[in-house]
Amino acid sequence: VMLLPWLLVFSALGLGAGGAPTIVSRKEWGSRSLTCSGRLSLPVPYVLTEQLVGMECQEQNDCRQNLRDLQAHSVYTKGWCDVAYNFLVGDDGSVYEGVGWDMQGTHTQGYNNVSLGLAFFGAKQGSTPSPAALLAAEDLIFYAIRKRHLSPRYIQPLLLKEEVCLTPQQPVMPRKACPVIITRSAWDARETHCPKMNLPAKYVIIIHTAGATCNESMDCLIRVRDTQSYHMDRLDFCDIGYHFLVGQDGGVYEGVGWHRQGSHTYGYNDIGLGIAFMGNFVEKAPNAAALEAAQTLIQCAVDKGYLTPNYILVGHSDVSNILSPGKALYNIISTWPHFRQ
Ligand SMILES: *[C@@H]1O[C@H](CO)[C@@H](O)[C@H](O)[C@H]1NC(C)=O
Ligand SMILES: *[C@@H]1O[C@H](CO)[C@@H](O)[C@H](O)[C@H]1NC(C)=O
Repeated sequence: VMLLPWLLVFSALGLGAGGAPTIVSRKEWGSRSLTCSGRLSLPVPYVLTEQLVGMECQEQNDCRQNLRDLQAHSVYTKGWCDVAYNFLVGDDGSVYEGVGWDMQGTHTQGYNNVSLGLAFFGAKQGSTPSPAALLAAEDLIFYAIRKRHLSPRYIQPLLLKEEVCLTPQQPVMPRKACPVIITRSAWDARETHCPKMNLPAKYVIIIHTAGATCNESMDCLIRVRDTQSYHMDRLDFCDIGYHFLVGQDGGVYEGVGWHRQGSHTYGYNDIGLGIAFMGNFVEKAPNAAALEAAQTLIQCAVDKGYLTPNYILVGHSDVSNILSPGKALYNIISTWPHFRQ
C-alpha cells in the first residue's frame, strides 16, 4: 500500500455531519462464526486504512460475496482467525462488519491491538474510493468516537506496509499530525456573524471557560453548543467567543475556527487565536490529553500557515484583566514554547 493521495483528502475532511453509518452485520453477509480471541482495549488511538486491490464492488450482493471469499481466503490460506479488518467499506457506501468493534484484526503488525483496521474494497492500486465510500468511512469514524471505541484525537498513520514487514519488531511510530477537529456541524453550530480573521495569526491566547468541564465527547458537544448560545444570546457576540475549545476528553472542538475573528480578548480578536480549555483551572490543571491536544493544535496551526512561525503565546490574563486561564493552567503554559509574559 503506497501513500495514496485520497487518504490525505480523507484525513483533511475531518469529521462529517456524524450520522450513524449503516453497518451490514456479519450475519447479514453470511459470515462464519467469529473465532478470534484477542480483544481490543477501548478506546483505541489509531485508525489504519487500506485499499484491497481487485475487489471492487458497487452493490451489496457483490460486496457480500467478496467478503465471504475474503474470509475463506483469510482463514484457509492465511491461517488467520477471520478477515483481517475490523470493518470494510464498499463503493456502494455501506460498511461491512469484519471482526467488529471489540476484536483485534490482523491487518498491520505492531498495530493490531491498538487500532481499528478499515479496508476499502477497491479496483486498482491508487484508485480512489467512491465519494459514498469516503462518507461512510467518515461517519463510521465519528460514530466510533461518540461510542468511545476510538480516541477523539486518534492518529491515522500512513505506513509503507513493506517496511513494516521488513522490521516487524519495530512498529513505525507515526509523526505527529494535526488533531482531528470536531467541526461546527458536529455540535450543531448556529450561523456565524463574525468578520474575517487576519491570517496568519500572531498570537496564541490560552483561556479557560471557567464553566463546567467535560470528559466525554457527548458532554463536550453539548457544552460547546451551550457556550455558543450563552455568548450569542446573553453576551451578544457574533458567535462563540473562542477559535477552538479543548475538552478533558482530549478532543479539539471548532469554535469560530481559523477564518473568523473571535470575541475573547479586546484588541487581539483578529490577530490572536483564542484556545479555550473547557473548565476551571485555577486550582487543578487540565489533564494530559487536553494539554497535548492544545499543543498539537498549535503546531498544526503553524504547519498549515494559520499561525506565524514566530508567534507569541500568552495567557488570557497577560492581555486582559481577568483570572483566565487559571493559575494551575498558567503555570503549565508558561513552560511552553513561544511563551512570553
Ligand atoms: C500490544 O501488543 C504489544 C506487543 O505484543 C504489547 O507490547 C503492548 O503492550 C500491547 N498493547 C496493548 C494496549 O494491549
Ligand atoms: C468524568 O466526569 C464525571 C463527572 O464529572 C466523573 O464522575 C467521572 O469520574 C469522570 N470520568 C473520568 C474517566 O475521569
